[in-house]
Amino acid sequence: MVVFRIRRDHRRRYIILFLSLAGFIIYRQFGGQSGKINRSTGLRVNSSQFTLGGEQFCILGGSLHYFRVPRAYWKDRMMKMKACGLNTLTVDVPWSLHQPEKEEFSFQEGHDLESFLHLATEVGLWVILRPGPYVGSDLDLGGLPSWLLRDKEMRLRSTYPGFLAAVSEYFNKLIPKVVPFQFKKGGPIIAVQVENEYGSHAIDGKYMSFLKEALLERGITELLLTSDNHEGLKYGGIEGALRALNLQKINYDDIKYLKTVQSNSPMLVMELWTGRRDGWGGLHHSFPAEDLVAVAREALRQGMSINLYLFHGGTNFGFINGAMAYPSYKALVTSYDYDAPLSEAGEYTPKFHLLRDLLSRFNRETLPVMPSLRLKEEYEPAIMFQHLSLWDALPFTHKPFKSNLPINMENLPVNNGNGQAYGYTLYETVIITGGFLKAGHNIKDRALVFVNQSFIGIFYQRNLDLAVSDDKGKRTLSLLIENCGRVHYGKDMDDQRKGIVGDILLNNVPLRDFTIYSLDMTSDFFDRLYSAPWKFPPNKPSFPGFFQGRIFVNGYPSDTFIKLPGWSKGVIFINGQNIGRYWDAGPQQALFLPGPFLNSGMNQIIVFEEAEGDFKIQFEDSPDLGMTVDI
Ligand SMILES: *[C@@H]1O[C@H](CO)[C@@H](O)[C@H](O)[C@H]1NC(C)=O
Ligand SMILES: *[C@@H]1O[C@H](CO)[C@@H](O)[C@H](O)[C@H]1NC(C)=O
Repeated sequence: MVVFRIRRDHRRRYIILFLSLAGFIIYRQFGGQSGKINRSTGLRVNSSQFTLGGEQFCILGGSLHYFRVPRAYWKDRMMKMKACGLNTLTVDVPWSLHQPEKEEFSFQEGHDLESFLHLATEVGLWVILRPGPYVGSDLDLGGLPSWLLRDKEMRLRSTYPGFLAAVSEYFNKLIPKVVPFQFKKGGPIIAVQVENEYGSHAIDGKYMSFLKEALLERGITELLLTSDNHEGLKYGGIEGALRALNLQKINYDDIKYLKTVQSNSPMLVMELWTGRRDGWGGLHHSFPAEDLVAVAREALRQGMSINLYLFHGGTNFGFINGAMAYPSYKALVTSYDYDAPLSEAGEYTPKFHLLRDLLSRFNRETLPVMPSLRLKEEYEPAIMFQHLSLWDALPFTHKPFKSNLPINMENLPVNNGNGQAYGYTLYETVIITGGFLKAGHNIKDRALVFVNQSFIGIFYQRNLDLAVSDDKGKRTLSLLIENCGRVHYGKDMDDQRKGIVGDILLNNVPLRDFTIYSLDMTSDFFDRLYSAPWKFPPNKPSFPGFFQGRIFVNGYPSDTFIKLPGWSKGVIFINGQNIGRYWDAGPQQALFLPGPFLNSGMNQIIVFEEAEGDFKIQFEDSPDLGMTVDI
């Protein structure tokens, strides 16, 4: 051994020398996906180390979500994962996206899980599958479909019969698709996680064993595991599944606890948090690269396996973002960069380089070369040359629905009886007096309020009252309510119905006789909107409104970032595809627009803006996630 007294500036060199030696000694213990492997025994946990195909194996994993990355980039992100020295890809499967309606399953295009698993095999990554049904994953309702909430008695993540019946139906479709991809059948899946962080929820002692049986019955034969964070560790876990740990910084008490309840088993950090999600109105979080690498190094030094959550975060395209529940409701931003080793747009960060350096010592073979990066382009600004007010767009929505009592989004009679999952809902009623409008906590999550189409105020979080002026005669009161994202964890998961969820009072009298428009802003809405009476925008256009312009792409489309300095809050659609929400509350200042969403030549851009706009959209060649604070 060499190191006794080290001058500060030499310390790094010695650490590298030491790690190289250590790496040389242990490199034989860590396998990648090599050609010849015994498929008769899968991942096993008999001793303090994993074995795979009978040989010692260390999971060097990273999470990657196909639903947050354009399909055209799946392989690129996997190859970058491999080039970082990882041998395993962990993937969450969001039920809400695979079964958007009770009778409709979606496993194509951007939801083509089987193609994703084929690609993992091709790139040479093992897979840990997290089929849920609840995945968390910072998604709206943790990836559970909102139509579950049509049942007033629903108890999510429990053995409530209505929930179990829905899970069984979904698993009947999902699990047979993944069974052939299991290790012992020659595929990449080496382990399957049962639910996610149930120890932090733990409302039903029979739920986890139901799920375990549901997986076994349908042909899952690889290693099962559960994963929990510090708070849920003591209540998580289930007989017959390996218990794994989620953390950002090493907590020796948790490790000691796991070693006590699960002796003679390898330690797996299932989620080593590489950064953190951001919420609107907050700051952008960064977890310093040196801190992350120190945690990874320490875990590996102790012989643990790790999975980076996330290796690459991607984007909350559309309306899929979740929301934080504590200390109070806060919706998550569109970017899911997460300060992960690979940025939202697939660029290498200092974390990537440091991790590659560390992980190269744990790989048998030299790491593949790092795939080259894609061009980012600063397109010419797009001028919005057409305008359509919200009011003029209403005839192109679903047929409005009349109801004496207010009805929440999920229970609206739209989408083949599945209700509305995402987006905006407009509630209108006629009033004949002014006075005080009281919303209590019955507006989820944010309402713009209008009288005869003139804006009078906003209900959001702490604003619970609004004054309505005292004009004579009948007037239309309109509330445009946005589901900003359902919380993805916590005790109030069953309480995530959106829109108007109880009485709204005007002078203490509940409003009645509503006309309700569902504005989920799906691509067929934009197809219909094509024939709407768009007009050249007047100097003072009406808000909320739709603004339309074009982006011309010369040649092969590149990635770019959309910036809207003169706008306040809304959603952007490129060729009918929802690329996410923007909001001047920040921190996020620019939206990622991946090249594959653009065509060579002319592209349509539509902005739905709630309050103000300057008719111009700008493009930049670099991201802007806003003011940053270290975790
Ligand atoms: C190792 O694991 C396999 C499969 O899980 C099991 O059959 C075997 O009995 C275990 N051996 C020990 C020593 O625990
Ligand atoms: C509100 O709109 C209704 C219907 O268009 C109209 O009859 C009424 O005069 C308007 N009231 C006010 C105060 O503008």
